[in-house]
Amino acid sequence: MMETGSLRALAQERGLLLGAAFNPGAFRRDPQYGRVLSREFNCLVAEGSMKFVLLQPRQGQYDFALADEMVDFAAANDMAVRGHTLVWHEALPDWLGAGKFSRKEALDLLREHISTVVRHFRGRVFAWDVVNEAVPGEGDGLLREDSVWMRMIGPDYIEHAFHWAHEADPDAVLIYNDNAIETNSDKFERCRRLVGRMQRSGVPIHGVGFQYHVQISNPPVQEWVSERIRSFNDMGLAVHVTELDVAVPAEATEADLARQGDLYRDVVQCALRAESCPAVLLWGFTDRYSWIPSATDGRLDHALILDRRYEPKPAYEAIARALQEA
Ligand code: XIL
Repeated sequence: MMETGSLRALAQERGLLLGAAFNPGAFRRDPQYGRVLSREFNCLVAEGSMKFVLLQPRQGQYDFALADEMVDFAAANDMAVRGHTLVWHEALPDWLGAGKFSRKEALDLLREHISTVVRHFRGRVFAWDVVNEAVPGEGDGLLREDSVWMRMIGPDYIEHAFHWAHEADPDAVLIYNDNAIETNSDKFERCRRLVGRMQRSGVPIHGVGFQYHVQISNPPVQEWVSERIRSFNDMGLAVHVTELDVAVPAEATEADLARQGDLYRDVVQCALRAESCPAVLLWGFTDRYSWIPSATDGRLDHALILDRRYEPKPAYEAIARALQEA
């Protein structure tokens, strides 16, 4: 099953989990999708199907069908699975956003959601993004105010979420996940303060996820990324790269794609050289299915490592080379 020359075989040799976000629509209608995914990667994450709105569309009624389809595919192909994401201020069902719940009711429903979901996937999902994007990129506060969880519960929703996830699966690696940690020093500092505070109050947190949605026009500095990973590792926390993609202008030049390859290489090198960065997940793998064009009104594109015809781009080769370096 594992072909020589695939990124998967190279990653396996380095003991790295190299993964991609899974798109169930593409999987169902495009037979090449699953073949390439299982050939090139040893790990998966759901791009959407484990978000709150998909798992609990109506209060108390869970729908695991889409997510189970992915997890079954992973098991059949001997791939690890990351869970994304238990608590986020986006991708929420209307009943929750619109509902006026008291603090007590909100705590109960969040506890029930986390326990049900984490128990459902226990033994099949090795790590969870327990809380996603709770820290704002700017402003004074440490925590984002424009979150239904913050409004209904208050700042302690975060520590509760980690405790409940840990109770539901004591073996799962529990991650705090956020964007721009790799590029924004203010964001990095805030995230460090948040997780440090959690550790001091005995919250079961095991790692930090760097989303790593970057652009060639605002590239992360490799030394700083390494330092930031080291700083979390020094706190006893693992780092996962959780949503890697590198957007380039829609009218990409060859130089843009080469530059993109350099940035993919940099992050894989950082992971391999770190004391603890065991997982690097891309937010997709083929430009045929990527969230970047729709998220940027078509300005940016070509963010992944295979083109729309599944042909390897310079970024694919750059990762392969990085995995083969000493
Ligand atoms: C994105 C998906 O890729 C899109 O398809 C969806 O429309 C919106 O969410 N940070 C995250 C991811 O943590 O869950 C987001 O995924 C991208 C930004």
